[in-house]
Amino acid sequence: MLLETARLRLDSLRGEDAQALFAYRADPSVSRYQGWRPTSPDETVRFIEREQAVAFDTPDSWFQFALRLRDSGELVGDLGLHFVNADTVEFGVTLSPAQQGRGLAAEAVRAVLALVFDSLKRHRVYASVDPRNLACVKLLERLGMRKEAHFRESWREGDIWVDDVIYAMLAGEWSARM
Ligand SMILES: CC(C)(COP(=O)(O)OP(=O)(O)OC[C@H]1O[C@@H](n2cnc3c(N)ncnc32)[C@H](O)[C@@H]1OP(=O)(O)O)[C@@H](O)C(=O)NCCC(=O)NCCS
Repeated sequence: MLLETARLRLDSLRGEDAQALFAYRADPSVSRYQGWRPTSPDETVRFIEREQAVAFDTPDSWFQFALRLRDSGELVGDLGLHFVNADTVEFGVTLSPAQQGRGLAAEAVRAVLALVFDSLKRHRVYASVDPRNLACVKLLERLGMRKEAHFRESWREGDIWVDDVIYAMLAGEWSARM
């Protein structure tokens, strides 16, 4: 699967991405609110190998887009799509710290929302976020997603319980924005 935006190319993760992926995914500022935090480059290699084994749009599985600058090909982030079922998709997006604050995440997510609603004809897209993750909350609100649930202490993070907030968009809301 390949998507292009003004500044980005979205395609599959490759073996040679492991070092760059590890460098930003293991950064504490990036992994703070993430479920997956690689502890070694080898773990990142295995993550990419697992991703490569799963075809795009396989029910009940994740597909991880690589976000690359169109100009240089540099890996600047990734965007995971969870094909929950035939109607619903979840996503999560990550940028390397050096590439944040440029609008790249919003650009990538808009391209993926267009794919999911216009081409794949899904009914609902959602993202799950720790409400302390203000950069992500801002991103989801900037994209026009609607806050529809706040689950109190629904995840255990080590010794503490943390909240989970759900932002969603329906196909009708996506088309009404056009
Ligand atoms: C969540 C995350 C991807 C958001 O990244 P981000 O850089 O804030 O989002 P964008 O790329 O859309 O950039 C938006 C910012 O760039 C600014 N910007 C600069 N140039 C811009 C341009 N040309 N177009 C749009 N926005 C631009 C915007 O004003 C905005 O800044 P602000 O937040 O200070 O108002 C990032 O914080 C991240 O990777 N966090 C760690 C991983 C994580 O927790 N992910 C969430 C899992 S769901």
